[in-house]
Amino acid sequence: MLHLEPFRESHLAQLQSLINCHLGSVVPGWALSSHFISSHLGRNPGQYVTDPWVIERRTLCALERGRLLGAVHLVRYGSGPEVGGDFQRAGEIAWFLAWPPSPPGRYLFPYSFAESAEALLRAALAQLDEWSVTKQYASEDLWLPALDGVPDQWPHVAEAIAAVGFQPSPEAEEIVRFGLLASVPEPSRPPVSGVDLRRRTAETFVRFSAMLGQDEIAFCEWSLDLGSGGDVQALAAWAEVADLWVKDDWRNRGLGSWLVQSASALLRRGGYERVILAVSPERERSGAARFYDRLGWSVLTRLQRGHARPAVPAEG
Ligand SMILES: CC(C)(COP(=O)(O)OP(=O)(O)OC[C@H]1O[C@@H](n2cnc3c(N)ncnc32)[C@H](O)[C@@H]1OP(=O)(O)O)[C@@H](O)C(=O)NCCC(=O)NCCS
Repeated sequence: MLHLEPFRESHLAQLQSLINCHLGSVVPGWALSSHFISSHLGRNPGQYVTDPWVIERRTLCALERGRLLGAVHLVRYGSGPEVGGDFQRAGEIAWFLAWPPSPPGRYLFPYSFAESAEALLRAALAQLDEWSVTKQYASEDLWLPALDGVPDQWPHVAEAIAAVGFQPSPEAEEIVRFGLLASVPEPSRPPVSGVDLRRRTAETFVRFSAMLGQDEIAFCEWSLDLGSGGDVQALAAWAEVADLWVKDDWRNRGLGSWLVQSASALLRRGGYERVILAVSPERERSGAARFYDRLGWSVLTRLQRGHARPAVPAEG
């Protein structure tokens, strides 16, 4: 008999298997330790702007005969002046996962996906109602970079959250690429005479800049702690291109390539091997796709993002 209950430590091994199977189908090799998962149910340090606004969290699990069929993690944002406008009195399905239906003719899981998904998501909506939130979001944020959204590889998740009224924002879609740093050639001389390479800490990134005197004409920002200082072993050798930008007048002269080559050469020496990045479809169309294809960094998945349900009327 299917039933729901709050997350307990005894569910952790099965929850880890559910999460890692989903993650691995998107990025081969990505996986989270049970310690990382259990500590992140209580806080999400990666979201250093929005996480401090969270005032309540709940994790619900769907079980049948001891088998964990799915889980949903909810957060409630506060209403104080420190909370950013879109998050004031908002509630969010931070993530929802369930074992997908078995393919026809196979009965690995003799359970109903539709039943467990619907029970979990109905319970999630009831919790959001009980919290009296005025905005309802769903984000599929499993605490890892570049992957906060519903990837192509999880059609069962996309269908289940759509069935309870969450629609993605077309403007928020992202394309995720990945590749090897080894496929990037060593940098040659700066492609524009007089340009110097500068490297500095910028917010949570390392920023490589192409400087013409005092003028920054191009930059490339990298996130280098995807493995959270050793907490996520699987991501230790991964780096993320968080942004890459060449001033309009300086494009097509090799500056973008030179910055990526210079950064990649340094990162390789530091032990990094793989790269991941998310790009908007608009940027892909306007040249980024060709640029990254040339580096051999291919499309890994597409993410539907910014899921929301129609506004809930405010009380009073
Ligand atoms: C995508 C982007 C970073 C590329 O930067 P760029 O400096 O224009 O790229 P490069 O000059 O290195 O490469 C682009 C073209 O210039 C050519 N090129 C490379 N070195 C060159 C040189 N020394 N002289 C002349 N042309 C050169 C390349 O062959 C390439 O042409 P191709 O696409 O026809 O093969 C830049 O267009 C940009 O900032 N776009 C907006 C933001 C964006 O999309 N960022 C990436 C996603 S996060």
